Amino acid sequence: MPGLDTIIRNANVVTATDKYKADIGIRDGVIQMIGTISESAESEIDAAGRMVTPGGVDGHCHLDQPMDDGSIIADDFTSGTISAACGGTTTVIPFACQVKGEGLRAAVENYHTCADGKAVIDYAFHLIVTDPTPNVLGQELPALIKDGYSHFKIYMTYDALKLRDREILDVLHLAKREGAMTMIHAENDDCIAWLTETLENAGKTAPIYHSHSRPPVVEREATHRAISLAELMDVPVLIVHVSGNEAMTQIQNAQARGIRIYGETCPQYLFLTADDLDQPGFEGAKCVCSPPPRTADDQEHIWRGIKTGVFQVFSSDHAPFRFDDDKGKKNAGTDAKFSQIPNGVPGIETRLSLLMSEGVMKGRIDVHTFVSVTSTGPAQMYGLFPRKGTIAPGSDADLVIWDTETEFTLTNERLHHNVDYTPYEGMELQAWPATVLSRGRVVAENGECMAQPGDGEFLPSDPPNPLRPQQP
Ligand code: URP
Ligand code: ZN
Ligand code: ZN
Repeated sequence: MPGLDTIIRNANVVTATDKYKADIGIRDGVIQMIGTISESAESEIDAAGRMVTPGGVDGHCHLDQPMDDGSIIADDFTSGTISAACGGTTTVIPFACQVKGEGLRAAVENYHTCADGKAVIDYAFHLIVTDPTPNVLGQELPALIKDGYSHFKIYMTYDALKLRDREILDVLHLAKREGAMTMIHAENDDCIAWLTETLENAGKTAPIYHSHSRPPVVEREATHRAISLAELMDVPVLIVHVSGNEAMTQIQNAQARGIRIYGETCPQYLFLTADDLDQPGFEGAKCVCSPPPRTADDQEHIWRGIKTGVFQVFSSDHAPFRFDDDKGKKNAGTDAKFSQIPNGVPGIETRLSLLMSEGVMKGRIDVHTFVSVTSTGPAQMYGLFPRKGTIAPGSDADLVIWDTETEFTLTNERLHHNVDYTPYEGMELQAWPATVLSRGRVVAENGECMAQPGDGEFLPSDPPNPLRPQQP
């Protein structure tokens, strides 16, 4: 039998279920053995008793995605995946978005030209279905699901993206028949439009009014409706970027009734509040995202939802717009109305460190929950498990060796995204990925990227775990 290429020695291996000390042997990018390894390898890394977790799977990020308002997403597949790798993420799942009036296959082909040869870590694609025509539902989507695009997002808001309830039912019907996971952006579009018009007519145009235009009831109603439509169709769905207690309670109640509803939340709902939009001048635009950050009380509920398993996925929703840039947050000017500010915050590199530092190190969640929501859960939801999302023989050797001893102050200078700010500037953290391996290669070391564009491969997705046939 050929020897091992790499051995990680003295690891404190942590998965979603287990914790133990072992060496990890890697050949051809795949984990071959875990235990006490007596042979040697050309490359050996001493983890020196450090915690080793599966590489992060970021199940929701926006890279090189065209915007309909002329603004530009700041990260492409190179800068975005370098940033992800330096923060411990080894798989990203951004979005191939259908343009209304055009096909889905064309969107996927275009998006491959953005990604292929440019990523430093592995990637899969979510689709965004904006125009569920008979051809899309009857031909394109079923074929794409079979080709490895087995999960897609639909929107209940944004003019260029939103679907009506009848269209959502058609899409859910297809998802059930073809075995795909539907991610739903749940906000009531008519409520947002009415509130926006009312606020702006009253001269209330500053960034803080973004949060007034999208209060919790707007998200709660749409979440309830999305769950009801999924219940009617008897198909699993995943509600993305859940911001606070009201929407979360809808999910929790559905789960308690035995309905297969899954949930995602994001760092901005643990570490930002609406007050972060209420800054002098235009500064609050940095934290404009949808749904908006809520209150300190909501943050506590979101922690509870992670801890108790309401959420299966903790994603960045990295939607990077530069602040001081006329194609970024200032796309419509330096004093644009809140409704013209591009939505989204950056966070692809800080996602894991924030949750490890503030969650695990401060005792809010256990380390298995950390692995579950940042890696195993998204890999399962999006058909990448067990190739991704765990540390086991046969899985890709995507690994993070953690430094949990060095306290530091987070600044934007240490990050590798193409954004001129981080919403988390100045936070005191105590965990950062010291060494990150993707398929056995070191891709990041002490916050510096060691990989090249093109090292990352496209990952066709299998059927998501919740949609696989039940075994007897
Ligand atoms: O504000 C956000 N979250 N922007 C990104 C697009 C989306 O809806 O996820
Ligand atoms: Zn969304
Ligand atoms: Zn998003």
